[in-house]
This record gives sequence, C-alpha cells and structure tokens, in this order.
Amino acid sequence: MPKNLAVLTSGGDAPGMNAAIRAVVRVGIHHGFGVYGVMRGFQGLLDNELVPLDLRSVANIIQRGGTILKTARSKAFYEEPGRARAAEVLRARDISHLVVIGGDGSFRGAAKLNAEHGICVIGIPGTIDNDIAGTDYSVGFDTALNTALEAIDRIRDTAASHERLFLIEVMGRRTGHLALDVGIAAGAEQVLVHENPLSMDDICTRLQQGQLRGKTSSILIVGEAEKEGIAVDIANQIRERSGLDYRVTILGHTQRGGSPSARDRVLASKLGAGAVEAALDGETNVMIGEQGGRIVRVPFAQVVGGRKQIDMKLFELVDILSS
Ligand code: F6P
Repeated sequence: MPKNLAVLTSGGDAPGMNAAIRAVVRVGIHHGFGVYGVMRGFQGLLDNELVPLDLRSVANIIQRGGTILKTARSKAFYEEPGRARAAEVLRARDISHLVVIGGDGSFRGAAKLNAEHGICVIGIPGTIDNDIAGTDYSVGFDTALNTALEAIDRIRDTAASHERLFLIEVMGRRTGHLALDVGIAAGAEQVLVHENPLSMDDICTRLQQGQLRGKTSSILIVGEAEKEGIAVDIANQIRERSGLDYRVTILGHTQRGGSPSARDRVLASKLGAGAVEAALDGETNVMIGEQGGRIVRVPFAQVVGGRKQIDMKLFELVDILSS
C-alpha cells in the first residue's frame, strides 16, 4: 500500500530538524515508502525542487544543526493557486503523503493542501520557541535552551566581577516559553515577558530589594516579543529611574544554530518515526507530538486553533529561587 512520501522543513529552522528528516527517510524506507525531500519549504514545492532521498543521503546529519532541506517562508503557497501547483507537483511523482516539519502556521497551510487536494499531511513540531499547542516539547527547544544557558553562565561571571546588571534578550516572538525556562535554569533575578507584564516600578523595586539583600549583580531575562532589541529600551528606562549601570546582550540567532542536544535528537527521531507510522495508518491532518513522555497524534484543528499556555506559577518560582 505505501506509495511515495515527501518531507519538508518550513518556517524558522531549529536544531534537530535534520534528525527528524533522517528518521522520516529511514523509517519511511523501512516500511516501503519512496521518500522525497522538498527543498526550501513550501516554496520549493511550487518550484518543483524535489530530490529523492535514499538511506545514504541522510547519513551523518543527526548531529548537524539547521536543515539540509533548507527552509523558507512562501507567500505563494498561502494562496489557492499556489497550493494547486504544489498538489500537481506531488501527484506527478505519485506522492500521497507530505510530512511538514515546522510550526503551526506551516500546519495551517498543510491542512489547506489536504482540504483542497486530498494530499495526506502530517506535522512534526519544530521550533525553538516551544509555543506549539498539543506537544510538551518541539524539536529545537532543548538545544536553544542549553545554548542560551551556556552564554548566560559566561555572562554571569563577568556580571559578578563587575557587580553589574545585565539584561539578556532571548528569542520567542510570540511567547515567553523559552525565556521562562532560560530564566529558571540560569537562576535569573527576573524574567520579563508579555505574558507576565511588570511595571517599571515593579522591576526597579525588585532590583533594589535584591541589593538590600546583598546582591551585587543581577541577570534579567527579556523575551524579545514583537520587537528584537526591546531589552535595550527596558534597560534605558531602568537607568533613567534607578541610575543603575547596565549592559545588554541580545543572544539572537545564536540560539537557532548548533548541534542538537541528545534530547532533541531523541525527540526528533521518535516524532519522525511517529509521522511515518501515522501515514501507514492512513492518518492525515495530525501533528505528532509528545505529551507526558508519550508520542501522540494531535489533530491539526487542536494545534492551530490552540494556544500553548505558559505556567504562570513559574514566575513566582523565579522570584523565590533568586531571593
Ligand atoms: O524560530 C522562531 C523564531 O526564532 C522566533 O523566536 C524569532 O523571533 C523568529 O524566529 C525570527 O526569525 P527570522 O529572523 O528567521 O525571521
């Protein structure tokens, strides 16, 4: 019954995407699928940039960051004629299933491809932001967390030596999941994200209280939110109010690169295998996720309609642990 399946990566890259590609290819071939890789996300589908992937074509990639298939954001695919072209390209190669490694926006596009053209679509969550509903973790999050942490541990050394305040901006355009976990793991004094808005008075009072308890340096983690560089604005406002000297570090795209952690490689491998198994079972419009350590199939409707909630109690934990 297996025919051909294709795999692509879409949206921002994330460490571990290669491990997911490798798993889709090898488990797919194991079960009798012919496997194609689509270059440059949905745009590559429209441009007919498909390459057959055999067992050896994914050798030696499990440890590599980025994505061997490249990634892009395609406007054309989000228009109906674009999807019609994509379906034509897939049909010409007898491809019945498309595995999309990316975020919920990519799954939304994939769902339309299914609704309009009957291509079976299966998602694998891949983003360092860990903001996809229906899965505890997305591929890339653990690596990004560790990358940020390594940088912050270094900054703490110099912050302590100079008795300084540091604001460190981490990625997460829509949500503060990464910032919050980074803050807990780094032992930060405060985590500033839009889900837990603090007034400038609150921020400065907490810093002063820390000084009164004998703190001579502080680390504030800032989630980038809508605007890269927001940490600089916040730091300026803190100086205006409290006169505290500060330094700002924006970790930026360093968090998206690098060799995936063991956890991301294992997660990506399990999700990749889960995607092929779902295809074999005739599933479509599902994301393969991990919930409570179990691999699950979550309907796209729950993923794209949902919002992954942040655990608000953890902000209190940041306060208590940094006292
Ligand atoms: O991968 C997700 C993400 O890292 C966001 O946190 C970030 O704001 C965004 O991608 C930036 O992506 P790009 O620079 O590729 O537009």
